[in-house]
Amino acid sequence: MENRVQALRQTWNGFNTRPEMTNSQHNPGLIDRALSETFVRAVESYEELDSTNTRALSLAGDAGIELPCLIIAERQTAGRGRGANRWWSSGGALTFSLLLTPDVESLPIARWPELSLTVGTAVCEVVRAFVPGEDVRLKWPNDVFLNDRKTCGVLVEVPPSSKDSIVIGVGLNVNNSIQHAPEDLRQTGIAMCDVTDDPLSTDRVLVTLLNKFEQQMALLESAPEQVRSGWREYDLLLGRSVTVGDEHGAVTGTAQGIDDDGALLIQTESGLQRIYGGVVQSFG
Ligand code: BTN
Repeated sequence: MENRVQALRQTWNGFNTRPEMTNSQHNPGLIDRALSETFVRAVESYEELDSTNTRALSLAGDAGIELPCLIIAERQTAGRGRGANRWWSSGGALTFSLLLTPDVESLPIARWPELSLTVGTAVCEVVRAFVPGEDVRLKWPNDVFLNDRKTCGVLVEVPPSSKDSIVIGVGLNVNNSIQHAPEDLRQTGIAMCDVTDDPLSTDRVLVTLLNKFEQQMALLESAPEQVRSGWREYDLLLGRSVTVGDEHGAVTGTAQGIDDDGALLIQTESGLQRIYGGVVQSFG
């Protein structure tokens, strides 16, 4: 179990941002709404930042910051995904990170890997509410798909400097139509506006999402079976042929669902395997 939490810690490269050189009060209307309508207690809002996750990691452990703290940027110049992946961010997307300290009494550190699926489920619910009638799915462990294309990625990291904090980074394609994305992403990605044909209010999507996170995270502590039924309802991989791997090797088989502890169950020729980390390299 410790290995799974360790994996969350190792994703940070350790570089730092220089927020004093930028305006952290960009978009005051959004800051007001986040503070008055959601559970966040502090907000940094930038027009442009390298990565909101990197900024959140550098704030962790700072006694002067009220938590939960929201760091949001209209554009990221070095948005990060899992592993070595980059995250394409352009104007119109929602790109933000939450820095918070979960209550370890009710959500012990060993259960933190479940947060990624929980956040993904909250995103599924909100995407479904804003684009009703479309196919919305959770791809283990941290992607949200809309009509078979990726619309959101979640990057959860534990700051090495502050082991009781967690950073939850979310990149959600809202009004950044995939038509303007780099060529390779145009085949596999999608934005919510590509389905609605009309732009959405990113502020409204954000506020709804933050409230849904709060609700789902509270449920993860008090009634986890309700959250887990969400993972299962939205499971994109269930019954499909998948290959999941990392630098040590890959496992291929048929996905059998997501277990209570967040493990992806894969039926292989040699038996049922429980997968806690790695990347879904292919699915059919
Ligand atoms: C993935 O698909 O592998 C996860 C992508 C996570 C992207 C978000 S955008 C906001 C936050 N800041 C980052 O640098 N990354 C996350």
